[in-house]
Amino acid sequence: MKATIAVLSGDGIGPEVTGKAVEVLQKIASKFGHDFTFQEGLMGGIAIDQTGDPLPTETINMCEGSDAILLGAVGGPKWSDPTASVRPEQGLLKIRKHFELFANLRPVKSYPQLVEHAPLRPELLQGVDMLFVRELTGGIYFGPRQEQGDGDHAYDTLIYSRAEVERVATVAYRAAQGRRKKLTSIDKANVLASMRLWRRTVVDLHEDYNDVALDHILVDAATMYLMTRPASFDVIIADNMFGDILSDEASVLAGSLGMLPSASIGTSTFGLYEPIHGSAPDIAGQGKANPTAMILSAAMLLRYSLQLEEEAQAVESAVEQTLASGARTADIAPRGGAYISTTEFAQSVLNNL
Ligand code: IPM
Ligand code: MG
Repeated sequence: MKATIAVLSGDGIGPEVTGKAVEVLQKIASKFGHDFTFQEGLMGGIAIDQTGDPLPTETINMCEGSDAILLGAVGGPKWSDPTASVRPEQGLLKIRKHFELFANLRPVKSYPQLVEHAPLRPELLQGVDMLFVRELTGGIYFGPRQEQGDGDHAYDTLIYSRAEVERVATVAYRAAQGRRKKLTSIDKANVLASMRLWRRTVVDLHEDYNDVALDHILVDAATMYLMTRPASFDVIIADNMFGDILSDEASVLAGSLGMLPSASIGTSTFGLYEPIHGSAPDIAGQGKANPTAMILSAAMLLRYSLQLEEEAQAVESAVEQTLASGARTADIAPRGGAYISTTEFAQSVLNNL
């Protein structure tokens, strides 16, 4: 198949890990006889430096002409002055919203090879395999906000419509049907009106998906259960902010934030694929970054946007073989133990392909 992939590598470790994911996709193309074209665009801090805009129109246009977007990471200390009027993160929110990528899929599983590395007891990690479905284009990230004139007041607004909750809940129910048929909805319905609407909507939609077992957990309790009984979760649906927080927490179960990919999708096959981790400016340019999250994001791109399931699985099993061989980047190496560089790790994945 022919496909055009927009590559926005961004800031910090973004370019290092994105380059590796592109190499993996190129290898897949040659192995399976596909024709992938990669087009690079500016986004994030680097885009601010070069154009003054974290998401230039030129980048949006280029993405519109592509089948999917591969995104590294944006941000860094250089652009994080709280009084700055433009920030790299604005580009990220804008691109999600522009393409109405309202469902963010974040799979989290524990790798047997990394169980020793995770801070939880190994027996708690057995069988951990969950999928977060995070609402991505609404809620408090996009409600009216203001930092008011006197500088002493500020507000953000958490608003959801039934339609917004319904469309993301539909994605979650369908995902659950293809998995262990369990959906856990996270909210704060005991306090927030918006979260009561959230819960009502998820409950009403359950009629159409009654083969899925549904339960509800308040977000504060959920933070605890994620650590005390992580294997009990299958699909978890959460709003934009709780989904952001809980998925970082859950990354501890996988051994490192450097392991977790994500897919942001809407109503078509077009999607945006990015690791959950940020730009990690502290290790940028040192060859220390773990390219796994980015490479697994490329696998999700193959699966969802290009509908190439076999190719996606080939990438995932190449990564597992690399881990099984004992190859470790710094973030997943045992304390004081040996680790290899981003390039060496990615080379091992390529060899396994
Ligand atoms: C994420 C990140 C972003 C978010 C930031 C960088 C704006 O934390 O993708 O999880 O909050 O959505
Ligand atoms: Mg986050």
